[in-house]
Amino acid sequence: MPETLAIVNCSQLVTLAGARHPRTGADLRQLAVVEDGAMLVRDESIEAVGRRREIEGLLTAGCEVVDAGGRVVLPGFVDAHTHPVFAGIRANEFEQRSSGATYREIAARGGGIRSTVRATRNASLSDLVKIGKRYADWFLRCGTTTIEAKSGYGLTLEDELKILRAIKQLNDDTPLRYVPTFLGAHDVPVEYKTRRHVYVNLVINEMLPRVVEEKLAEYCDVFCEEDVFTTDETWQILSAARCHGLGLRVHADQLSLSGGAKLAADLNTATADHLECTDATGVMALKAAKVQPVLLPASVYALGSNVYPAARQMIDAGLSVVLATDFNPGSSPTPSMPMVLSLACTQMKMTPAEAITAATINAAYSLGRGDELGSLEKGKRADFVIHEAADYRELAYWFGIEHPWRVYARGREVFARR
Ligand code: NIG
Ligand code: FE
Repeated sequence: MPETLAIVNCSQLVTLAGARHPRTGADLRQLAVVEDGAMLVRDESIEAVGRRREIEGLLTAGCEVVDAGGRVVLPGFVDAHTHPVFAGIRANEFEQRSSGATYREIAARGGGIRSTVRATRNASLSDLVKIGKRYADWFLRCGTTTIEAKSGYGLTLEDELKILRAIKQLNDDTPLRYVPTFLGAHDVPVEYKTRRHVYVNLVINEMLPRVVEEKLAEYCDVFCEEDVFTTDETWQILSAARCHGLGLRVHADQLSLSGGAKLAADLNTATADHLECTDATGVMALKAAKVQPVLLPASVYALGSNVYPAARQMIDAGLSVVLATDFNPGSSPTPSMPMVLSLACTQMKMTPAEAITAATINAAYSLGRGDELGSLEKGKRADFVIHEAADYRELAYWFGIEHPWRVYARGREVFARR
């Protein structure tokens, strides 16, 4: 017997129904809101969406009915850029930055990514899964039901495999869905500092083939940045990843204009992420190549910078903008998409509707899951959230609180505020 569930009495059912492609321009503001909406779920999928009257007419005996109490209902957030598996935290560096040290200075002293790499190498697979479950819970409580999850704190073959296996196990053991990305080129490990080409070759010739053979990643990413991986090295690694059939993403122009956006366009990656320092030429290149920009304002905020990516310019240029948290222990210690929505509106002048589109359907497309996730439409996966608000704009307006009242993943309640 299939199980059915009806959600009724939604002040606004924010469906994001619409064209089956990433949204751009004025379409970013079209949320396809159904007032006094309701939704019917069968097993793991959405069966029908409409006005309360229409849906109530479809109810059969045995259907569980949830009264949303006049609250707003949205698709679960899709967080398309996170680093969720690591050991240790970096509150010490946070304190140093609060006293004026910069992210780059701390990294140059052996802190930053390297300090998390040391802690993560010392952790076992089961340690990482245990730590990761705590963060999975945080994502769900914030209304996120799918995350893209990068490795990158191991930087040896075995440690990168260990992180990717932890991601796989977290995907199996928690209600959160993980889309795995191999980020072996997150930093050049200290032991290869004077022989960086040897590390690049290790990533290409040993790590990538194993990751692919064990089916541990869908995407490959590189941190392309001055002092990290050059555009040439990034090109070599991503080209090899493409030959193995992986999708491509790239950390581009975060701390300096290093040519990352242009490279993303030349390689036709799925996404170019960060883009704080990208210039107009880079934006036009992304547009021509239809690369989706993934903007991470929480990392700008947490680093105490005021250089946010030029979201308005990107939207005006016709780019299909995505928003994500960049959850990690250094530059962005937050799992909160609502916090990201707030920053997108206050600091990057996106409208609440544009921000919600960027955090749901556009993010889903950036992960190759636009047909499955990111909107509330018949046939899509029943990942949705009843938020403690009556109007979708409140999600970006009230900040510093947890909005979700109930979170559902695959049609099952996975979080409830009691
Ligand atoms: O996306 N930019 C590179 N990687 C992360 C930071 C990781 C860290 O500091 O641990 C980022 O901001
Ligand atoms: Fe990142």
